[in-house]
Amino acid sequence: MATPLGSEAVRGPEQGHLAVFPGAVVRCEGGVITFVGSEAEHARHFSPPDEVLELEGGTVLPGFVDPHTHLPFAGYREDEFDRRARGETYAQIAASGGGIVKTVAATRQTSEEELLTLTLARLDRQLLAGTTTTEAKSGYGLERDTELKQLRVLRTAAERHPVEIAATAMPAHEVPPEWRHDPDGYVALVRRDIYPAIAAAGLAEGVDVFCERGVFSPAQTRLLLADAPRYGWRIHLHADELSELGGAELAAELGAASASHLLHVSDAGIEALARAGVVAVVLPGVSFFLRDRYAPLRRLIAAGVPVALATDCNPGSSPTESMPTVMALACLGAGMFTEEAIVAATLNAAAVLGRAHRLGSIEPGKQADLVVLDAPSPKHLVYHFGVNLVRHVVKHGRVVVRNGQLATTSGTAATPSD
Ligand code: NIG
Ligand code: FE
Repeated sequence: MATPLGSEAVRGPEQGHLAVFPGAVVRCEGGVITFVGSEAEHARHFSPPDEVLELEGGTVLPGFVDPHTHLPFAGYREDEFDRRARGETYAQIAASGGGIVKTVAATRQTSEEELLTLTLARLDRQLLAGTTTTEAKSGYGLERDTELKQLRVLRTAAERHPVEIAATAMPAHEVPPEWRHDPDGYVALVRRDIYPAIAAAGLAEGVDVFCERGVFSPAQTRLLLADAPRYGWRIHLHADELSELGGAELAAELGAASASHLLHVSDAGIEALARAGVVAVVLPGVSFFLRDRYAPLRRLIAAGVPVALATDCNPGSSPTESMPTVMALACLGAGMFTEEAIVAATLNAAAVLGRAHRLGSIEPGKQADLVVLDAPSPKHLVYHFGVNLVRHVVKHGRVVVRNGQLATTSGTAATPSD
């Protein structure tokens, strides 16, 4: 068994530290971990449990937490994949009517029921890859009713699926086509109409803005996030993804829980994140998929910024649902160490979602969210890349993946259209 320890994000050298207990017993009661230690000690203090999950040479880790996804979307954009292979850039494709607005059109047209089916199938894939809690954003509606539809889908999905969902309102993911002539008008509409409707329905626990050249400026982002305290929303930011715009500095100034992407973060931005204790959410799937640079992971860690990893699961820049895949990319593409990647995918990711007191490590008192790998050491998670080593998954004390198969029926399987 290997786990980070603690109830808040860890940084610097501590980010590379895992407590390793060979041959450990983990006991769960009522969905909570009540004991971690040797078999002999367990036998001394406890009566035999109702159910035993034998580990047979496997490795136990905390369930993965994916702190940045865009799960409730309709339609894929594999055509853009081919266009990029022929030399067009993400920005050029977006400017020619592809990109986010293409997914917005598809998501607006898709029924709530169909969107739920698509989302549940993605949650199934996350769970099979060891994710037990995920963040998920709206942002493919860009008008009130579709934003609400996306967030209602997340609420229904959370009721039906074992993966726990932290929903984030992101109507400021892009300027919708009908507001291109007046982006400030859209910012005002979001604040006057869309945020209040989302808050009144209690559909989000956080808010996110895409702060980027040609999307929302730092000044507009500041306005869009000024309302967060009033609604009790945690602040997240898409920052310094395609250009250096001071997004990291802004996240620090606003007391954000996280700043994501950071491919172009400046030295001053890194210092600001470290000082303010903002978690950097690094998305190596995007760098790999768009054949772009990686966020400066080593510099972030050396500067004392707590780092989390996420899939960014979305149809344009990183379609994967797999945390082990992005962990491998962080290590192979940007020099992260396996232990750091495991902390980034568990305790630090839980901290982004305000759940590090309850999730992200294997310790008595924490929720029993566990992954059992078909591997003799945690190193294999990254080293043995490209295959799914997840054998069992336990969510809140319940076995939800057994021998690589979903043990529960969420009412879905991946459909041919998905
Ligand atoms: O996080 N950067 C903005 N949003 C997504 C991409 C969304 C899309 O291409 O559909 C991201 O990379
Ligand atoms: Fe994103």
